[in-house]
Amino acid sequence: MNMLAQAQAVGMSVAAPQTPVLQVDRLVKHFPVRRGVVFSRVVGQVRAVDDVSFDIARGETLALVGESGCGKSTTGRLILRLLEPTSGSVRFQGQEIAGLDKQAMRRMRRHLQIIFQDPYASLNPRMTVGQMLAEPIILHGLADSEAAIQARVRELLSVVGLLPEHARRYPHQFSGGQRQRLGIARALAVKPDLIVCDEPVSALDVSIQAQVVNLLQNLQRQFGLSYLFIAHDLAVVKHIADRVAVMYLGKIVELAPKDELFQAPLHPYTRTLLSAIPRPDPHRKTARQIPGGDVPSPMNPPSGCRFHTRCAWATDLCKVEDPALRNPDVGGITAGHMTACHHIETLPPASEAIGVGATAPNAAKRLALYAERRAKAKAEAG
Ligand SMILES: Nc1ncnc2c1ncn2[C@@H]1O[C@H](COP(=O)(O)OP(=O)(O)OP(=O)(O)O)[C@@H](O)[C@H]1O
Ligand code: SF4
Ligand SMILES: [Mg+2]
Repeated sequence: MNMLAQAQAVGMSVAAPQTPVLQVDRLVKHFPVRRGVVFSRVVGQVRAVDDVSFDIARGETLALVGESGCGKSTTGRLILRLLEPTSGSVRFQGQEIAGLDKQAMRRMRRHLQIIFQDPYASLNPRMTVGQMLAEPIILHGLADSEAAIQARVRELLSVVGLLPEHARRYPHQFSGGQRQRLGIARALAVKPDLIVCDEPVSALDVSIQAQVVNLLQNLQRQFGLSYLFIAHDLAVVKHIADRVAVMYLGKIVELAPKDELFQAPLHPYTRTLLSAIPRPDPHRKTARQIPGGDVPSPMNPPSGCRFHTRCAWATDLCKVEDPALRNPDVGGITAGHMTACHHIETLPPASEAIGVGATAPNAAKRLALYAERRAKAKAEAG
């Protein structure tokens, strides 16, 4: 049975095959920063999410990766409308969710679920697991008798690898990995189409991480689920992602099919993130490339390209002009590989070290040299 047929069999709503499950378009969230206790006034804006666009297909996993504070969780919360966007659009199966009233949004929530990093914080300590799983089933009218509710609770425990008797226990009686399984079971209780997984394995031991990632992958195949999988570490998404979006200070700087991103990263920031993954490879050519300086504040993000304060290739252009996310002319990449960098066509290939540390004063000269070398190689080849 294909994914579409499976989805229909478990009672999920099905969009036209060509419509992505989720379409996020130019999404913006600015948080006002206030000062003063009595006469509080707005003194600035945290630009947590600043013009973010992507879509997710049915059965696809899009990973959203970036350092702490770059806006990943805010993006996830905007998609579930746990936060109101400053501007931009979020469409679920073609329907805009920004304008939905409370009742319509409650119905929509059935299809959009979230799993958190710390499942314990999101599980009610005074409810048994059985009560906790029954709650959304009753709220959304997904079972019409007590026996049907209990059967569904047992089924949910079984699909996440827990036992029927676990329904009588309380959250504190479970291990970290088991609690994350409970968080997943609760998300699945309403038969969702899309789950935002916000760092679901970051707090778990490495051995348990793999089990939870495997479980999420199996459930995806079984139920045709789509995931937005949030992580701060590229290593975590290597096995689960179909595509990866790399975020830096509220913006997506690279979006690519997973294999392409790992084999041929384009953006200097993606390259530094990849080089930070420990690899026991004696033949590895590229050195660890730690970007210079601290992550700037999203309250006063740098002008132009936000990465320019840490990029070894920054030129004067980078300081004034914000580069658009585009499919660059670098050869060997697919049309779906996008990046936001003015100099991407003239940067050295990913197999070469691109420069470690703080901004190099002669970046423009080196870029010109690389451009010359590349043109010469092209002329010789053709
Ligand atoms: N409710 C809020 N009010 C004000 N600022 C906020 C609020 N929520 C988030 N922020 C700010 O927005 C920025 C992005 O936060 P967000 O939680 O989305 O980042 P993140 O990428 O998920 O980080 P982490 O990896 O640490 O979870 C941060 O600077 C954060 O301080
Ligand atoms: S070269 Fe310029 S545009 Fe590209 S990442 Fe560096 S600072 Fe940004
Ligand atoms: Mg977060």
